[in-house]
This record gives sequence, C-alpha cells and structure tokens, in this order.
Amino acid sequence: MKITILTLFPDMFSGFLSESIIKRAIERRCVDIEIINFRKYSTLNNHQVDDTPYGGGAGMVLRLEPLVSAIRAVKTPDSRVILLTPAGKKYDQEKARLLSTCKHLILVCGHYEGFDERILHYVDEEISIGDYVLTGGEIPAMAISDSVIRLLDGVIKKESFENDSFYDGLLDYPQYTKPAVFEGHEVPQVLLSGDHQNVDKWREEAALLKTKERRKDLLE
Ligand SMILES: C[S@@+](CC[C@H](N)C(=O)[O-])C[C@H]1O[C@@H](n2cnc3c(N)ncnc32)[C@H](O)[C@@H]1O
Repeated sequence: MKITILTLFPDMFSGFLSESIIKRAIERRCVDIEIINFRKYSTLNNHQVDDTPYGGGAGMVLRLEPLVSAIRAVKTPDSRVILLTPAGKKYDQEKARLLSTCKHLILVCGHYEGFDERILHYVDEEISIGDYVLTGGEIPAMAISDSVIRLLDGVIKKESFENDSFYDGLLDYPQYTKPAVFEGHEVPQVLLSGDHQNVDKWREEAALLKTKERRKDLLE
C-alpha cells in the first residue's frame, strides 16, 4: 500500500515515520509513505496557499488551486482521496479495515479555517477523527495512517489485532503482566493456572463484561 499525505507542515511527520512499528513497516516495504508539501503547487507570490474568506469573518481559508494541483499530480486510477475535516464521517475500526484494502490513500490535511467548500468536487470522501477541532489535519492523518498500517500484512501478528478492541465488536479483555501481586492488587488466579481452555473462557467473558460496563453502545 502507498499513503500520500498532502500537508503544509511535513516536519510534523518525522517522529511518526521514524519510530517503532511504523518505522519497521516502512523498512519492510509493507507500506510506502510519501509526504508532500502542497505549498509547492502554489503559483502565487511567496507560494501563498490561503486567503481571506468571501463574506468576511475570522481566519484564512485554503485556496483551491494548490490543493487541486497537488491532488492531480499524485492521483492514479488506484487512489482514494480523503479530505480530513471535522465535518466528515466519524472514523472507526471498521473504516480502518476497509481503508487497509486500498492500494493508494491520499490524505489531505487542512489548516487555518479549513478548505474552500468546492474542494469536495475533487475528493472521494471526508473523514473526521472525532467531534473536536484540531489546528490541522496532520494528527488525523497520522491517526488514520497508523490504524491502517498496523492491519497490513507483515506489520504485526494477525492474532495481535484480532484480539484488539472493536475487532469483533467488543473491547479487548483485561491484560496483566508480572508481578502477580502489586501493592496488594492481584492478577486473576485463572491467568496463573496454565489451563488455556479456562483462560480463553475467562477472557471471552471478561471482554463481554468490560464492554457492557464501559461501552454498552457497542452491544446495541
Ligand atoms: C482549525 S480546523 C478547521 C475547522 C473548521 N473551521 C470547522 O469548524 O470545521 C483546521 C483543519 O484541521 C483538520 N481537522 C481539525 N479537526 C479535525 C477532526 N476532528 N477530524 C479531521 N480533521 C480535523 C482539518 O483538516 C481542518 O481543515
């Protein structure tokens, strides 16, 4: 899979690309990530990319020309162009799974007051990562890329994400590690028993209970 990120702040991605699982996924060629500063597609003086809103009001709006030129320069018949915006459909694990089957994602990061609405003629869909407003689309682009990359073949073990929260509609079961007792707080005895059938049964029940207690909406 290839992921192209269109942004005004490419340096924000350096830590994301150079650490841990994402770094290894790139090294193993499970994913190819391209970060493009769409300012270079501006033909205006000083490579200006924004302008004042028609009708007046606070802040600056991203102009269409550099964004549309950047999208056209990187788009192929295999691309899915995603606009990152609080107005988009809310992102979830099922969407991550669907996107992980695409060949090429183009993630378009906004900034300032956001996009000229006519950008919608040039994208396939709009995605929001939640009902709150960030300063830019870079953190949403990282969140979406990260959640998609960990589902790609060869990145992490399939069993790892198959037990994750949301994979089968439930939260993950509670996890514990050494020591078996910490300041009087004990690990459930069944996990120390070595009886794998009992452990599996306990985990199934514990995941269901945890989901009932914390995220009843997932069961509805
Ligand atoms: C300050 S926001 C613009 C907010 C816009 N005026 C509004 O109220 O919808 C700047 C950019 O950050 C990104 N952004 C902010 N919050 C986001 C969210 N929850 N999901 C996805 N992108 C977001 C978008 O790319 C957006 O264009």
